[in-house]
Amino acid sequence: MKNTASWKWDNEGRDVNYPLGVADIDFRPPEEVIEAVVSKAQQGNFAYGVQSQEFSNSIVNWYHKRHGAYVEPEWTSYSPGLITALKMLLEAVTHVGDNIIIQSPVYFNFSLIITRNGRNVVENPLILEDNHYRIDFEDLEKKASDPRTTMMVLCNPHNPIAHSWSEQDLRRIADICNKHHVFMVSDEAHSDILFNGQKHIPLFTLSQETAQNSASMNSAGKTFNTNGLYTSYTIIPNSQIHEAFNNAYANHHFDYNMLGGPAQIAAYTYGNQYVDEMLEYLWKNIVYLRDFLQANMPEVKMIKPNATYLMWLDFRAWGMDNKELAEFFKSADVSINSGDIYGSAGKGFVRLNVGCTHQILIEALEAIKKRYDEGLKISVK
Ligand SMILES: Cc1ncc(COP(=O)(O)O)c(C=O)c1O
Repeated sequence: MKNTASWKWDNEGRDVNYPLGVADIDFRPPEEVIEAVVSKAQQGNFAYGVQSQEFSNSIVNWYHKRHGAYVEPEWTSYSPGLITALKMLLEAVTHVGDNIIIQSPVYFNFSLIITRNGRNVVENPLILEDNHYRIDFEDLEKKASDPRTTMMVLCNPHNPIAHSWSEQDLRRIADICNKHHVFMVSDEAHSDILFNGQKHIPLFTLSQETAQNSASMNSAGKTFNTNGLYTSYTIIPNSQIHEAFNNAYANHHFDYNMLGGPAQIAAYTYGNQYVDEMLEYLWKNIVYLRDFLQANMPEVKMIKPNATYLMWLDFRAWGMDNKELAEFFKSADVSINSGDIYGSAGKGFVRLNVGCTHQILIEALEAIKKRYDEGLKISVK
């Protein structure tokens, strides 16, 4: 919605009618979430906050309800955002100059926060085959076995390839990292957005050894449209690492968010059905997009999704670079995320957010098609 001081509509959407880039959804959160924030505001006290027991319990209950997983309340800590949490985990577990593995193409802020904090990014590129990505385990083992490698940042579900990793894949990753003493950070920001019976496997549920050698980061933000409340959390079963994380947190002088806490508690207490309904809605958008591309521009391939509302589209057949692609979309009144920001493997790809109303998606796709029919058809290989 415009005029809400939101990045999506008032910054990205300043020059286009259809902003489909940034990873926010357009749906109003459950009424209980809005009521929780209003009722907190009405107390008229915006003093420094403290992480409440209900905050931790809401995480315990949500992981149990949605993922069948057991979380101890003591494992949980508030953090302002997942990327902030990642920064604190880098400080808690690694040293300047260490190697950190990421699996490109992947959420661009991973490499930014790693390099800005003096650590080295080591890529374990995913392999694209038949419209589907798989992990190069040989390469992963080679990079994990380097003594300078101390951490791997996993994205599960993986943004931007719209993929939730299988238990088998996660076990192979964990085996390699545990064997080589590489600490795993699992970004589970999109773990509620899974389709067609796909189950999210929280990393710490794999084994006691993996729980002790990993931290998971999550928030209600991607699911309930509360990203701007700057409230996320980490789950760290290893008490020593947890303490180191808390020290890093204290060094930054962060504090609990007075409005974000109640919003998360309400979302996780009352939001179960909301998520089920949203998933049905999102899946219809995904199917619509897939069918639209097949019918109107079959040379564009959509990577087969099983998670997230961020679809990864392969436009390489158009022979354009990412700048030209972004310009094309802009001329169609649509903004997207350029694939190359997710690493060089994203060249010629585009990430398109379907977390919008059907109407907006339909209008945006029609606008793209109109622009495509006007001039592009001839040059497509
Ligand atoms: C995988 C992933 N992790 C983290 C974030 C950002 O989380 P935060 O805003 O809490 O730092 C995003 C946002 O798009 C994301 O997709």
